[in-house]
Amino acid sequence: MQFQNDLDTLSRIMTTIEESNQLKDLDALLDRVLLDARRLTQADAGSIFLVENNVLKFSYIHNDTLFTTPSNKYIYSSQTLEINNESLAGYAASTGETVILDDAYQIPAHMPFSFNPSFDEASGYRTRSMMVVPLKSSREKIIGVLEIINALDGQKKVIPFSHRDTLVLNYFAQHAAGGIERAMMTREIILRMIKMCELRDPHETGAHAHRVAAYAAEIYQQWALNRGIAPEEIKRMRDLLRLAAMLHDLGKIAISDLILKKPGKLDPEEYQIMKYHTIHGARLFENATSDLDALSAEIALNHHERWDGQGYPGKIGNIYADHPPMGEGKKGEEIPLAGRIVALADIYDALVSRRAYKEPFTEEQALTFLREQSGQAFDPEVVAAFFAIYDIIGAIREKYLENSVSSELLAESS
Ligand code: C2E
Ligand code: SIN
Ligand code: SIN
Ligand code: FE
Ligand code: FE
Repeated sequence: MQFQNDLDTLSRIMTTIEESNQLKDLDALLDRVLLDARRLTQADAGSIFLVENNVLKFSYIHNDTLFTTPSNKYIYSSQTLEINNESLAGYAASTGETVILDDAYQIPAHMPFSFNPSFDEASGYRTRSMMVVPLKSSREKIIGVLEIINALDGQKKVIPFSHRDTLVLNYFAQHAAGGIERAMMTREIILRMIKMCELRDPHETGAHAHRVAAYAAEIYQQWALNRGIAPEEIKRMRDLLRLAAMLHDLGKIAISDLILKKPGKLDPEEYQIMKYHTIHGARLFENATSDLDALSAEIALNHHERWDGQGYPGKIGNIYADHPPMGEGKKGEEIPLAGRIVALADIYDALVSRRAYKEPFTEEQALTFLREQSGQAFDPEVVAAFFAIYDIIGAIREKYLENSVSSELLAESS
């Protein structure tokens, strides 16, 4: 019977690996990896840390006892750990060894690290059994750490992890690491494209792109839950949207510096030229060979349309024409959903940010603006979804501060 069990386990691992290779967005992949790792070992909770700039960055969390949806403010924690023997994850990353603890609060004296109880203290959770596994890429490079917490028996009582769990999880982690590394590279390439844009337009920072993308993914998920969309479709769309939304303003690279970097208000003629960034953006994904390309084009084209039909560029006959005239504004659900969502995410972020041409709105002013514009600039259902997840919006803002270097330093010193 154990043999049959192991075959089932193995075939589940294989399916998992196959499926995870199809996913493109890093967060969606981490969600999947944690879910599978926990299913394979019957674990209540877990986290993933990824190596970035020589520190371990907290990157994903599950906890069935504390929260049921993957969408929660803890995902956007900006905690970082040094890669050294002080912490469990740091130890696994620096030595490449797996750590197994029956009780995180009774670490044997010969082990060099200590358990940080701050999450338990803040949340009321009680961490007991733990397995901490390094994520090694094909070239034996350690790209992160997988922490699995509180193995459960059939009665949901916390028990130690078994030897079998260790074997299974190590095998699984090796394969998961390859997929994670690919997804990190995908995100890296996208960030490099945004970097190109940022060099031209100091408003379009990587931080802005990250915030708009994360807001859009979370708003979409809430919208889709409200609508009763199937969970698999939610995951697929959320994944694509997160990447595609990062590229909403890529078309600004086609706008001249004189307009892009103008410190004051644009005159009507300049503003007219600026509006073409939507069409330029859509053209960048001309070949549209993948769902991601197609969605990126859709968002670039539609993120300045308004629910009341007063947005731009409106209905365009042929976006590849030499200088296509702007059309009649798309209205209501004529605007693709992703365009409606990114419009709100982008404007909210632009409002509360300082621009060369304006002072930032206060949070209260921005929220009042969103409420007032519900049904005018914005789809009311999208506005409702935004307010339903407002605590997550705040966590995203804190994670992607304007200057990512200073945000890392802040996280380390706290
Ligand atoms: P952006 O700065 O990222 O702003 C994105 C959108 O946020 C704007 O789209 C607008 O809908 C909203 N927004 C930003 N600031 C404010 C504000 O103070 N009040 C209100 N009500 N809405 C605001 P929009 O207007 O179509 O502009 C698109 C892009 O054109 C802007 O992206 C920015 O790059 C540029 N732009 C727009 N107006 C000016 C300007 O007066 N001076 C300069 N230098 N650039 C401008
Ligand atoms: C942003 O926060 O959206 C860009 C940075 C800035 O405009 O100051
Ligand atoms: C979706 O829910 O898959 C999006 C449909 C749309 O773009 O309106
Ligand atoms: Fe734009
Ligand atoms: Fe933008």
